[in-house]
Amino acid sequence: MNKFIVFNFKMAPGSLKGAKEIFLIFKKFLQKVKSSKVIIVPPYVYLAEASNTFQKECFLGAQDVFWFNRNSATGEISPKMLKSFGVKYVIIGHSERREYLNETNEIINYKIKACLGSGLIPILCVGEKDRKEGDSSLSFPIKKILFEQLNYALRGIILKNSSDLVIAYEPIWAISNNEPKKIEDPEEIEKTISLIRFWIARRFSEEIAENLHILYGGSVNSQNIFSFLAFKEINGVLIGAASTNKIELTKLFKKIIK
Ligand code: PGA
Repeated sequence: MNKFIVFNFKMAPGSLKGAKEIFLIFKKFLQKVKSSKVIIVPPYVYLAEASNTFQKECFLGAQDVFWFNRNSATGEISPKMLKSFGVKYVIIGHSERREYLNETNEIINYKIKACLGSGLIPILCVGEKDRKEGDSSLSFPIKKILFEQLNYALRGIILKNSSDLVIAYEPIWAISNNEPKKIEDPEEIEKTISLIRFWIARRFSEEIAENLHILYGGSVNSQNIFSFLAFKEINGVLIGAASTNKIELTKLFKKIIK
């Protein structure tokens, strides 16, 4: 299975000029990336530029979507609009949206259905807020949170192919902007991803579970990327802050293309 590397720009950079500069770094290295599939997820306002800049060297993603295609939803962006820019993937249920915008599991479920119904592939983010001393992926509170998020987000969904969905395990405590920062342990991340895969096998099928991409996200950078990608169970990474830090991005690509 090839690994996915998703670059989530979040709300950066602050101008189109800055976005063009970041895209140039991607353009320089993307041709040389052989073993992974790269998905670039800029803010909506830079999607047109990204769609003009990149052709077949990567896939384009969006950071959110509204759940209807109809016209009356002020401020929102529809699946149809995203598709017209060549967007293929959409991040759904990122913890920052759950927190700042009160995005509920119910809304996340609508959005996943809207993506699947429009031929967009959702990258569903799940993850617990905190881990107490001694907690592991096998601890009841962790399982409960993850299974609940999966259960609600995927309620009523029929998956035809494992490639119709991507899951990103993003423990909130590991995301680079969150304090107090804890150090993530790739082995423990791998165990948690196996747990998510187990849930998928029971909910859908073993075949879907085996072939579904389940990624890890949280403070991934040029120093630690391979400590995650080395694990078979971790099918890729979702990178936040490092996506728009020119020095870090260049270092990261130099490692990936080695
Ligand atoms: P980070 O963000 O890489 O900056 O921790 C990951 C994410 O929130 O998607």
